[in-house]
Amino acid sequence: MNTVARFKNRDVISILDFTREELHTIFKLADNYEKLMLDHPLEGKILALAFFEPSTRTRLSFETAMKRLGGDTIGFAGTEATSIAKGESFTDTIRMLDRYADAIVIRHPMEGAAKYAAEVARHPVINGGDGKQHHPTQAMLDLYTIYKLFGEIDGLTYTVLGDLRYARTAASFLLALTLFKPRKVYLVSPPQLKLRREVKMEIDRRRLSYEEAESLEEVLPETDVLYVVRIQKERFPDPEEYERVRGSYRVTLELLEKYAKPSLKILHPLPKIDEIDYRVDQSDYAAYFTQAEYGVRVRMALLYSILAD
Ligand code: NCD
Repeated sequence: MNTVARFKNRDVISILDFTREELHTIFKLADNYEKLMLDHPLEGKILALAFFEPSTRTRLSFETAMKRLGGDTIGFAGTEATSIAKGESFTDTIRMLDRYADAIVIRHPMEGAAKYAAEVARHPVINGGDGKQHHPTQAMLDLYTIYKLFGEIDGLTYTVLGDLRYARTAASFLLALTLFKPRKVYLVSPPQLKLRREVKMEIDRRRLSYEEAESLEEVLPETDVLYVVRIQKERFPDPEEYERVRGSYRVTLELLEKYAKPSLKILHPLPKIDEIDYRVDQSDYAAYFTQAEYGVRVRMALLYSILAD
């Protein structure tokens, strides 16, 4: 497979490390995940999972993906059981994982942690989320889900709802859209949780136009993809500030039935807390569990591209 030769040993820090064509190459590989599973192309390879922050889907889907490809994983989830609890530096921890494994997935509360790890490690580093900044593999699976549901990513109207200030998934998703040609992009958030200036500047620089809408009702009739994120409680410097915005948006079935197109699909990186009425889960609008399921095959495609001999 020469088409993937260019991915070999590549670090994945931001979704903008990829071109639109490269993303399509990954999507095509993800479509063929069953063949990858039979071939076991990563037999004998080890993936290190360095999770300094909580995770369910990202960690377990990387682990599933690696094992489905015939490889294996090592790693930690939380630092209590590691030598970091004894005071070992981040740099030394990465150096060690780099000597044990063929690639490292890292999640860390600090922005830039994955980029720094990539400078320290000789093996490829994949960013599994760095603070409020990037979550590139989430953006990949978000786009893949849209491509599967709608057959295209261009030409659709997107509404991104929620904590756009702190949710790295929303930032990475918007950066990813700059590689495509959406019909429209709307941003809806509580006033305190608007998209940060540096992300806006990057999106502007890449000429993706968007509009900050006042309410969800007003943009729902046009929306094809509603991307919802939870309020990122753990990133608020002031707990009182969190209390003021808590529960400030909620997608209900009534709202969708009144304003949305029947073909609208809701994406959410999960975990969801209270921002989507649980009755929406059973409706045709909900695509978030399928989206999470697709995470495995997209990560399989990515790991294969980076690690296969
Ligand atoms: C997200 C994250 O960690 O940024 N989770 C995930 O990877 N699917 C979203 C979140 O925590 O809200």
